[in-house]
Amino acid sequence: MTDQQTNWESFDGRIRAAKTAEELAAVEQELFGRKAGAMTLALKALHDVPEAERKTAAATLNTWKRTFEELITLRRKELASPSDDMLRMTDRIDVSLELPERERGHLHLIPEFIREVEEVFGRLGFDVATGPEIETEEFNFNLLNIPRDHPARDAQDTFWLKTKNPEDRLLLRTQTSPMQIRYMQSHKPPLRVIAPGKVYRKDSDATHSPMFHQFEGLMIGEDVTLANMKAVMIEAIRTLVSPTAEFRFRTGFFPFVEPGLEVDMRWQGDDAASREGKWLEVVGCGMVHPNVLKNCGIDPRKYQGFAFGFGVERMIMIKHQIPDLRAFFQGDLRFLRQF
Ligand code: PHE
Repeated sequence: MTDQQTNWESFDGRIRAAKTAEELAAVEQELFGRKAGAMTLALKALHDVPEAERKTAAATLNTWKRTFEELITLRRKELASPSDDMLRMTDRIDVSLELPERERGHLHLIPEFIREVEEVFGRLGFDVATGPEIETEEFNFNLLNIPRDHPARDAQDTFWLKTKNPEDRLLLRTQTSPMQIRYMQSHKPPLRVIAPGKVYRKDSDATHSPMFHQFEGLMIGEDVTLANMKAVMIEAIRTLVSPTAEFRFRTGFFPFVEPGLEVDMRWQGDDAASREGKWLEVVGCGMVHPNVLKNCGIDPRKYQGFAFGFGVERMIMIKHQIPDLRAFFQGDLRFLRQF
């Protein structure tokens, strides 16, 4: 009986120590195998135990039997669930893994284009400046040589703000040109700057939005000429829109430049048929008017230079052949994902 007990205890130890499912199955077989299992044989042998001892012997054996069965079930579960090391190996998340291209977000077309513009003009030596969207009548019109009753004001239908004193009139800037004044009043020539930002006009249809983006450009020096302006315009637009662009400079009227010009472009794109032959107006520009220089404390006999302004959305529409301006502002991902 003592021998027998030691024997069972060693099985107990071996079940707990089994390292693999196979090892456990082998111990199980040794215990419960149909023909030669130790427990199977021991239970069969109960027949030969004298009547008087049989009951206790059977009870002891059954306790061992249940213990082994429970231990085996438990150990099998332990072996089936992976260890921490295994988990670390298989559940590892590679945070440096790159997402597929199409899943990645990107800037909206407008800020993306504005960054490109800043880069292109940056290479030509231009600084970037920004100013307020709520402007005074002085900066948006008067100092730009557009007095109150000037007909040029009608071309830019203005959102006026309610102010206490009717003489301090405020508005949502209709153009980025007030940045010419602000920059020339705070910087001494020679200077080169671009000023991107939002502008506002009472206008809304497929090609006009009450809010859109413009870029103002300004270059002032002792010998800055119209030829410099043409070179800068051509270089910038070729880089930004198409290297094959052709240009046409026409006279145009803006009160703050003299002479004033409008730039048309056309180019042959991938699908030449739809683009060829069509001249599109892209920029307003000209030599800064002497009155404007004077308004900023700059001597027009010593300094001269050019200014230009272009519409950001218009440029992008031409570049990507987008027919409706409103698509820029609707936040429709199907539209935005195309670019
Ligand atoms: N501010 C003008 C517009 O909004 C564009 C312009 C800027 C023209 C600078 C000439 C010089 O139409």
